Amino acid sequence: MTQTLGYAAKHSFSELRPMTIERAAPAANEVSIAILFCGVCHSDVHQAKNEWKNTLYPCMPGHEIIGRVTAVGASVTRHAVGDTVGVGCMVDSCHACPSCTEGLEQYCSSKEGFLGTYNSYQRAPSAAQHTYGGYSEAIVVREDFVLKIPAGLDLAAAAPLLCAGVTTYSPMKHWNIGAQSHVGIVGLGGLGHIAVKLARALGARVTVVTTSPDKRQAALALGATHVIVSTDAADMTANEATIDFLLSTIPQPHDPNPYLALLKRDGLYAINGCIAPLEAPLDLSKMIIDRKGVVSSLIGGIAETQEVLDFCAQHGIVCTVKVIPIDEVNDAFKAIDEGEPDFRYVIDMASLRTGEPSR
Ligand SMILES: NC(=O)c1ccc[n+]([C@@H]2O[C@H](COP(=O)([O-])OP(=O)(O)OC[C@H]3O[C@@H](n4cnc5c(N)ncnc54)[C@H](OP(=O)(O)O)[C@@H]3O)[C@@H](O)[C@H]2O)c1
Ligand SMILES: [Zn+2]
Ligand SMILES: [Zn+2]
Repeated sequence: MTQTLGYAAKHSFSELRPMTIERAAPAANEVSIAILFCGVCHSDVHQAKNEWKNTLYPCMPGHEIIGRVTAVGASVTRHAVGDTVGVGCMVDSCHACPSCTEGLEQYCSSKEGFLGTYNSYQRAPSAAQHTYGGYSEAIVVREDFVLKIPAGLDLAAAAPLLCAGVTTYSPMKHWNIGAQSHVGIVGLGGLGHIAVKLARALGARVTVVTTSPDKRQAALALGATHVIVSTDAADMTANEATIDFLLSTIPQPHDPNPYLALLKRDGLYAINGCIAPLEAPLDLSKMIIDRKGVVSSLIGGIAETQEVLDFCAQHGIVCTVKVIPIDEVNDAFKAIDEGEPDFRYVIDMASLRTGEPSR
């Protein structure tokens, strides 16, 4: 066991504070990783505050992890000491169900489902009752759930690809987004901003649908060619029936019907941000007329996470991030919670070891 420092919330009403946990030595098929950077996902905020009513405390979040391999178990073949690697939202699954067999571990249909990087009950005997995530110095993970970080990617800016990147790439690949598509990205935050870059790289025309008129220039700079301000009813009406695929990253309950009106015939509204009940029922009378659909998807599988990392390296894409020392994580949580974040905060984990940011 190694004493490992991290930041965790003790209760739903607590700020994150330093906490020491124990990480086991790597088993034969595991690697130990010294964490360099960890992105701050809105899911970390939901989870730390128990907004999904399933939080296991103490809660040490973090599932956008980039680090260096420091030790490998005896049978590890995919990674070596010194490699730059990533860990996303999952650290294990059953490996046997139809979804796992197809490389869709996020839909693991075993009784326990996939093992989350944090907030999942441990399956094997361990010092901890549940998993602790990447707001920590180090983590130990099965080698087949560890991603290779392609050379050339800025490491801090690549970290959010492990969740925000694959979560937006996966539905766009599944629903065949390409040069023929007009994609609308709803909500220009952590997921939304990288979704714009990925949709452009897939060849799509991209419109951003935002509550924030002041994000117009940023949206255009990211690669959108059009911006709709969702709080402006006239703007929404003027853009009805123009979009093929709307990817919503709105983190809160909302009325989906104004967004559905933006879709062309056969268009899809992919609700990937909000998992709480919507504020209004779907207006089926409008959906039936133009054969519209509402869909959703969860993160991405391990193979697809590697695919998006390689795709980003190939296309020169990384996230737009603000690197922070870990003692600013509570301020970052507050900004995210209040809907005023920079696109993505990424914690420089060197600050945990030294008390100072490394750059
Ligand atoms: N499906 C999955 O597997 C998956 C994976 C990761 C995260 N998530 C979820 O996705 C959501 C977004 O995560 P994120 O990290 O991108 O969050 P974020 O950085 O806070 O961005 C969300 C954006 O949505 C817009 N927004 C916020 N509140 C809104 C409201 N009440 N009505 C309309 N728009 C609103 C804002 O953009 P504008 O200012 O442009 O309007 C905000 O920047 C979270 O709920 C997270 O838990 C889902
Ligand atoms: Zn996430
Ligand atoms: Zn499975």
